[in-house]
Amino acid sequence: MQKRTLGANGPQVSAQGLGCMGMSISYGEPDDVESIATIHRALELGVDLIVTSDAYGNGVNEELVGRALKGRRSSALIATKFGNLSLAGITVPGLSGGHPDYVPQACNASLRRLGVDVIDVYGLHRVDPAVPIEETVGAMKRLVEAGKVRYLALSEAGSQTIRRAQKVHPIIAVETEYSLWSRDVEQEVLPTCRELGIGYLAYAPLGRGFLTATIKSVDVLLPKDRRRDQPRFNPDNLRHNAMLLAPLEKIAAERKCTPAQIALAWLQAQGNDIVPIPGTKHRSYLEQNVAALDIQLSSEELATLAGAFPVGVAAGTRYPEKQMKAVGI
Ligand SMILES: NC(=O)c1ccc[n+]([C@@H]2O[C@H](COP(=O)([O-])OP(=O)(O)OC[C@H]3O[C@@H](n4cnc5c(N)ncnc54)[C@H](OP(=O)(O)O)[C@@H]3O)[C@@H](O)[C@H]2O)c1
Repeated sequence: MQKRTLGANGPQVSAQGLGCMGMSISYGEPDDVESIATIHRALELGVDLIVTSDAYGNGVNEELVGRALKGRRSSALIATKFGNLSLAGITVPGLSGGHPDYVPQACNASLRRLGVDVIDVYGLHRVDPAVPIEETVGAMKRLVEAGKVRYLALSEAGSQTIRRAQKVHPIIAVETEYSLWSRDVEQEVLPTCRELGIGYLAYAPLGRGFLTATIKSVDVLLPKDRRRDQPRFNPDNLRHNAMLLAPLEKIAAERKCTPAQIALAWLQAQGNDIVPIPGTKHRSYLEQNVAALDIQLSSEELATLAGAFPVGVAAGTRYPEKQMKAVGI
């Protein structure tokens, strides 16, 4: 397994991580048996970065990851997050998601659900507009000092917030959406990370399944699938977006691989500081995604893909309006 160093002084991790969110929420029906087998297969293949959050099913996903890693703790690096209270459905009287008194409570609950005594990468899932970032990261720093957390990360933070956070304690990674159809981070967030020596966890690298070229109509999604609420998957936008896929599918066909693999290979080619964390609950998809690490796209192929998916090409925002207000702050 190829390795990457997360940030200037962070840990070595596999060049691809495993996103576990969809094992419990959002996409299709959960299947805990296959999901746990997928986590085990990831570890066998050398994928050691296992990514979750307390918000995924209000702790359900952390519990699943904890069960899967029982007896295998030393083979994995656990990255979990806190502070996305609206997604988690949590309300804490008097405390918001980034409040310094809430941070240790959230961490203790995650440690308990995961069944571990230390979290490798602890991230702020969404910046709390009600709390200065210095106070939130200050509380996260105290968790490092207490030995409960090894490294710190931010998710969906804006550039200025990343700079301010880094002054309080080293941030080893920013976890934000990045894929062919979500390239806006190339403008500010990614250059900021590079300037500050911060690694990058590219979430939803398959465009939440769109870049697999298997979702060209919402009809293929289950009625309760969360993508139905996302603007890019609304029927009109998806019809437009599906027309973007032809060059991706052509390159995949020429190389006898899948569009998902080409989408991951494009992301890998954007820099060694980028660790994509594709999400799947199927061993077969995991194996295909890991195999994409061996694909080196030519400069012509990279240029074709970049030209076919310029910044802002997708119709529809990444999230519904309310959730869009919580990103990039
Ligand atoms: N920090 C944040 O705010 C944030 C937000 C969203 C996600 N994330 C993290 O990022 C991870 C990945 O993002 P994501 O899961 O939303 O989106 P994604 O990785 O872009 O796509 C996941 C979807 O693609 C499907 N898939 C995966 N590999 C495939 C393959 N080789 N062929 C065909 N289909 C394939 C999955 O199917 P199956 O599920 O059926 O296997 C699932 O429907 C999440 O698990 C989560 O850990 C973080």
